[in-house]
Amino acid sequence: MKLGKPNGRVRIVPSVLAADFAHMGDSVRQIEKEADWIQLDVMDGHFVPNLTFGPDMVSALKKETDLPIDVHLMIAKPWKFLSSFASAGADLLTVHLEACPRPGIILESIRKLGVKVGLAIKPRTPLSRALPYLSFLDLLLVMTVEPGFGGQRLVRETLSKIQKAREIILRKKLPLWLQVDGGINHRTAPLAVSAGADSLVAGSAIFRSKNPVGAIRSLRRIVNGVHVTSDI
Ligand code: DX5
Repeated sequence: MKLGKPNGRVRIVPSVLAADFAHMGDSVRQIEKEADWIQLDVMDGHFVPNLTFGPDMVSALKKETDLPIDVHLMIAKPWKFLSSFASAGADLLTVHLEACPRPGIILESIRKLGVKVGLAIKPRTPLSRALPYLSFLDLLLVMTVEPGFGGQRLVRETLSKIQKAREIILRKKLPLWLQVDGGINHRTAPLAVSAGADSLVAGSAIFRSKNPVGAIRSLRRIVNGVHVTSDI
């Protein structure tokens, strides 16, 4: 299944970082009918002070679901791993601007691998630093927490950055997903969507709930009532 194009409908993207690592396949199968994509948070203990999984997790989950697999690379020197994640079956590869000395070249190389291209910025990274690369992208990820751990609270100051990004995407008529990640739950999801996000990554709010399927349904119900500030 492909990522599709932004069309104003908000995508719900469960992050498996919060799933039961001992039963990852079961967790993904449990929610796959309700979710739009799944996100794998790849961490290397260098770019962020945490360590998760590598390309083998992508290939393992590729066998468990047809959902598009969104791979969020929170790693140093991401260019060293792009082809192994692409060959493992990633549908989207998102690299951090802060980890890319030559972002244009790295984004182009993701494109050449036949994979959708994402660029992420941390809360303290100004949006202006990402603007020169928007034309290379399929997705811009405005992190709503400092990357590294799930279960954090959304950094409220990032909402204005999301709003600004949405205005620019609209003005330039860019076919870009505007994704948020970190502290997204039934309270903060409407704030993110009304600021302009149309792809919501949520880990704890889904996999730490008693009913992950119900959690996705209620997130979708809540945001469906909210206007994405865009006419896409
Ligand atoms: C941080 C991770 C988390 C995760 C979602 O590096 O990227 O944001 O995906 O975590 P929750 O939804 O639990 O805040």
